Amino acid sequence: MDFAGANILSVEQFERADIERIFSVADSMEPYALRHKVTRVLEGAILGNMFFEPSTRTRISFGCAFNLLGGEVRETTGFQSSAIAKGESLYDTARVLSGYSDVICMRHPGEGSVGEFSAASRVPVINGGDGANEHPSQALLDLYTIQKELRALGRTLNGLRIAMIGDLKYGRTVHSLSHLLCLFNDLHVVLISPDELAMPDEYVTKLRDHGHQVSVTSDLPNNISHVDIVYSTRIQEERFASKQEADSYRGRFRLNQAIYTKYCEPNTVIMHPLPRDSRADANELDNDLNQNPNLAIFRQADNGLLVRMALFAMILDVVEQVDKYARPVNWFHKRS
Ligand code: CP
Repeated sequence: MDFAGANILSVEQFERADIERIFSVADSMEPYALRHKVTRVLEGAILGNMFFEPSTRTRISFGCAFNLLGGEVRETTGFQSSAIAKGESLYDTARVLSGYSDVICMRHPGEGSVGEFSAASRVPVINGGDGANEHPSQALLDLYTIQKELRALGRTLNGLRIAMIGDLKYGRTVHSLSHLLCLFNDLHVVLISPDELAMPDEYVTKLRDHGHQVSVTSDLPNNISHVDIVYSTRIQEERFASKQEADSYRGRFRLNQAIYTKYCEPNTVIMHPLPRDSRADANELDNDLNQNPNLAIFRQADNGLLVRMALFAMILDVVEQVDKYARPVNWFHKRS
């Protein structure tokens, strides 16, 4: 696809070559993300960052990615701090804000809302999560992380065995990741959830139609024994009719070091889009996994910066100019 000026609304818009291109550009962003160099390639450009649902990683990392390329960020968080609370439509909001920005990232609880917004926007729009529908930049960073973690183990994505665990009904990250996995061959996908929160049929069918082996189960321990990746997800309590209903599922699929040691193959990579629910009654990825070298969740979050920098550089068509506007950093920077 031609990335210059493109909206990023769904992972279904990508072909495998597009993914490979994004990952190659993401690799090239590492010196900037690690603060070995500074670039000002997007000096003068403005990102409109509009998040109408809570977010830590997506909002901040999109903002930091734009800053790291030299651009500035203007934000709206929550409906109450926006004129949408006064009845303004998505159409009017898009017309106005796209006059102030060069690119817009948006998260909104309504499925399809970001697409609706993009149709009225005069600048490219990136979907930061639209309800239970999609979270394309998360799926990209997840796949980028899977590829990197497998490479460190001398493996490739072909033949990958992955277990997705938790709320597969409302979890938009697993929906987008499932679409992306259809670009690869010979995968074994294990879908572990309570029956009521199973992966919607359309995703299961699509995975099977692409020739992947798919198992659907509610039994965690006996189904994480022969996978390369366990990808855990949070119960998406904001999508349930009541907190009581969400609470009835909380803590059903805990993974801790004892379970990992007993059931998982050595070097099984542990992923989670985050936030993980660390409340005592959930503890879906126990803190006792924090010293496990296979816990990739923070490497995964770091990779979000690289992938989001790549998306901005490609959409604003500056990939070839990033290094031209580079210089050494001025400050002491230490990160372990
Ligand atoms: N993974 C993710 O979307 O995290 P946030 O909700 O913090 O953005």
